[in-house]
Amino acid sequence: MNELGIIKDGAVLIQDGIITAVGTTQALCTEKKPPLATVIDASGKAVLPGFVDPHTHLVFAGDRPDEFAARLRGDHYLDILARGGGILSTVRATRRASMDMLSAGAIKHLNAFLAQGVTTVEGKSGYGLDLKTEVKQLQVMRTLNASHFVDIVPTYLGAHAISEEYAGNADAYIQFMIDAVLPEVVSGELAQFCDVFCEKNIFSVTQSRKLLEKAKMAGLKLKLHADEITQIGGAELAAELGAVSADHLLQASDEGIRQMARAGVVAVLLPLTAFCLREPYPRARFIVDQGCPVALATDLNPGSAFSGSIPLVIALATLTMGMTTEEVVSALTLNAAAAVGRADTIGSIDVGKKGDLILLAFPSYRYLPYHTGVNLVDTVVKDGSIVFEAKERKPGPC
Ligand code: NIG
Ligand code: FE
Repeated sequence: MNELGIIKDGAVLIQDGIITAVGTTQALCTEKKPPLATVIDASGKAVLPGFVDPHTHLVFAGDRPDEFAARLRGDHYLDILARGGGILSTVRATRRASMDMLSAGAIKHLNAFLAQGVTTVEGKSGYGLDLKTEVKQLQVMRTLNASHFVDIVPTYLGAHAISEEYAGNADAYIQFMIDAVLPEVVSGELAQFCDVFCEKNIFSVTQSRKLLEKAKMAGLKLKLHADEITQIGGAELAAELGAVSADHLLQASDEGIRQMARAGVVAVLLPLTAFCLREPYPRARFIVDQGCPVALATDLNPGSAFSGSIPLVIALATLTMGMTTEEVVSALTLNAAAAVGRADTIGSIDVGKKGDLILLAFPSYRYLPYHTGVNLVDTVVKDGSIVFEAKERKPGPC
């Protein structure tokens, strides 16, 4: 994660949206550049792969500022959910919302992501908890994936909470998902991943395993919200099932992390959630040092972390979680691409990958944490075309 493969005075050639050559400016201009190529002058600007946010809940209705205030007064996130608030409050609003309303909200978040250099996001359902609304959320993502510049990787998260209809009966709710929702998600090709909130008083390891095994057999890749608030063996389950990623891991055991490293599970760390819930930060240094690939994500959602701020993720990862700047860049690019199963097509500036790039308003990636909490993205290139320019920003030092 510390080897970024920097090319000084580098250049990238993109044809039909795909990177076809990478090297020094001199080599590419003399040997490879087609006569009619459009040239983007990146003098004084660091060029990075587009950022990938591998964990968001960006399709939802309503908001929960009252809960944020209650948490500031000492209320607990899981107690609010147990009283029928939290995720269940967003479920009620999302069930009532039309697809157009959900799209309009998500587009605002996608636009904000793009302006911060995010060219691919993962997005989860999980605010429906019934067939109709889970499908509605996933259909919104499908439509937006086709119409918005940002690519969306859809995840089915029906096991986000126990619906009010199944209150007190998590086993029956899991069975309902297996029998009624999962088949529709799979036959409609609405999701690429299945995720579970594996947490005390939500879904146990046994219940999570039951749903995830069925999802895997049906062809979905796996993710888990694992050991977020309580250590219940989520990391171990992710390793056992060969999940692509296990996310949060604030309370994950040492042994669970080692098992993940051996199984090649990507640890997706979400500093904004720990920050907003005032929980301990994930042990990034330990996880990286165990040889586990680490990715970083925002977890944008209306409850535990109502923020899609990449600059704040970078600040917290470096200044509070002990990651190096190089590790953070890897965690937001290639490892994040691996966390959404796309390391073969995005996440690095390599021949054959998508032409998704960002130009910073500064000459080095090292400014990312140093110019703390500031969005340094000057230009975003998606599939070879400029899709965002921060015209007011000038390259060079402050
Ligand atoms: O990743 N923990 C579960 N899910 C989200 C929060 C969802 C919400 O509060 O609306 C998370 O923290
Ligand atoms: Fe989440």
